[in-house]
Amino acid sequence: MTAPISNRSDARFKGYHAARWAEPVVMELGHPGRRGAVFPKAGPVPDLPEGALRAAPPVLPEMTEHDVLRHYLHLSQMTLGMMGVSLFGTCTMKYNPRIGEQAVAADHLAKVHPLQHPDTLQGVLEIYSNFNEILCELSGMDQFVFQAGGGADAAYTHACVTRAYHASRGELEQRDQIITTIQTHPCSPATANTAGFEVITLTLEENGYPSVEQLKSVIGPRTAALMVNNPDDMGIYNPDIKEWVRLVHEAGGLCFYDHANFNGVMTRLRARELGFDACMYMLHKTFGAPKGAAGQPLGPMAAPRIWCRSCHHRWW
Ligand SMILES: Cc1ncc(COP(=O)(O)O)c(C=O)c1O
Repeated sequence: MTAPISNRSDARFKGYHAARWAEPVVMELGHPGRRGAVFPKAGPVPDLPEGALRAAPPVLPEMTEHDVLRHYLHLSQMTLGMMGVSLFGTCTMKYNPRIGEQAVAADHLAKVHPLQHPDTLQGVLEIYSNFNEILCELSGMDQFVFQAGGGADAAYTHACVTRAYHASRGELEQRDQIITTIQTHPCSPATANTAGFEVITLTLEENGYPSVEQLKSVIGPRTAALMVNNPDDMGIYNPDIKEWVRLVHEAGGLCFYDHANFNGVMTRLRARELGFDACMYMLHKTFGAPKGAAGQPLGPMAAPRIWCRSCHHRWW
């Protein structure tokens, strides 16, 4: 008889000790003047209510990128040595502004109902519409949908759209494989599999990402899509990503960009210009929206978006 999973994992961890660091809380680690990334000065934000403007900068620890990485590495090592056991973790490495919580909890947003008369929903719809424009500008895409309740939900949406796309062309039987990489967030292979595809996972090579040759060796008439994040879950950028997208398109597949790690590339690149057919954002990671807000009136805005290119195949 197969041993229950809990017993098996006990055996694997027997004698295992997670690290124990005398790690201060992050607020105690800052030193004035230290910087991780230096962002360009933001221009004026139109139509921002005066009450939403800060009188003083937020009290955040000033730290180098190295300090931040080391701090979270220590914390992750103490959490059952999560580094090495699981690659999850990027979601937690961000600051959740309280002002975002206040906004979603405000009555005039939190208490709207999907069935109320559209005349009374115009303010909320305006927020959607304006935010759609911002995301389109940042990604180069044409239209976002605000339905996915989280990153994995958006990835699943993409896998389902991939299925519908190939079915509409009579190629679903033939195109039954989705390609991803070992360092792509696990929600891509998981949702591809849930949507009925076989998952092909490329492995790392010398430079920390799979080579173009490895990709070429798995692309073929069975390719339905490529689902990747870039930078990947270890923060590594694939410099050949444009070539990857070109090759997958050449073989007849779609390309989905998990843009959860968007912070480092915002305004530096646009998913459409890299050739991707669809992308999603994590609004809680990049835009300060509270995580798990889906369901509240502002929730759909806090959810990642998936976009589908309005190319000559208009199946979306
Ligand atoms: C790169 C990446 N993609 C997708 C997800 C999944 O997002 P969610 O937890 O909102 O489903 C995460 C979350 O950690 C992520 O880091």
